[in-house]
Amino acid sequence: MRTVFDELLSGVQSFLAGFDEQAAQSFVASIDWSMPARELVPRGLPCLVHLDRAAEIAGEEGRALVAQLRDHAGRFRWGQTYTSADFGQKFIDNYGWLEVFGTRGHFANDGVAGGFLVLGPGIEYPDHHHMAEELYIPLTAGTEWRMGDQPWRRRAAGEVIHHDSNVSHAMRTGDEPLLAFYLWRGGPLAARSTVTGTTGQA
Ligand SMILES: [Fe+2]
Repeated sequence: MRTVFDELLSGVQSFLAGFDEQAAQSFVASIDWSMPARELVPRGLPCLVHLDRAAEIAGEEGRALVAQLRDHAGRFRWGQTYTSADFGQKFIDNYGWLEVFGTRGHFANDGVAGGFLVLGPGIEYPDHHHMAEELYIPLTAGTEWRMGDQPWRRRAAGEVIHHDSNVSHAMRTGDEPLLAFYLWRGGPLAARSTVTGTTGQA
C-alpha cells in the first residue's frame, strides 16, 4: 500500500520531470528513484503555519505538490540546522526544512538529497555556502535571491536557481513566505553551511 511518503516522493518526481533546463535535467538524471523508506519520528515546527499561504500562492507547476505537503505536514520530520544563537529567534520561528530523500530523510539516498525549505515573510537567510552543488526551485514567488557578488534578484515560482559548489548565496523574503524545493549533490549531504553573512535581526 502506498503511504503518504510514497505519494510525496512520486509528487516530487513528477514535479521535477516538468523542468527542461539543463541544470535540472542533469540533477534529475543523477537521482536513483528506487530508494528505501526510512522510519522517522514526525517533528513539527512553528514555520509550518506558512504552508497554508504557500499553497494559496503556489505557482501552477508546483500547486499539487504544495497541497500534498500542506495536507500531510504533520506526518513528516521537519528540521533546522541553525539555532536562535545563529540568526535570532524570529528566524528560528520562521525557518525549517524537510528532507524527503538523502542521508537522513524519509527515503535513503547517498548520492542526492532533496527536500523543501520554508521561510516566513520578512526573513533574510544570510550569505552562506557549502561544498554540495545545489539546485533550488521556488514554489512561491517574490523572494529575492543573491549569488556571489551579483545584485539581489526577485525570482518567480518555477525558476531554476543553480549554485555551484562553494558559491555564496542568500535569500530574503518580502511580504509572502518562501517555499522552495532543493536538491544537493556532490558533497557531504548533511553538512552545515558555512555562514559569512549576518541578518541584522539577531
Ligand atoms: Fe544552499
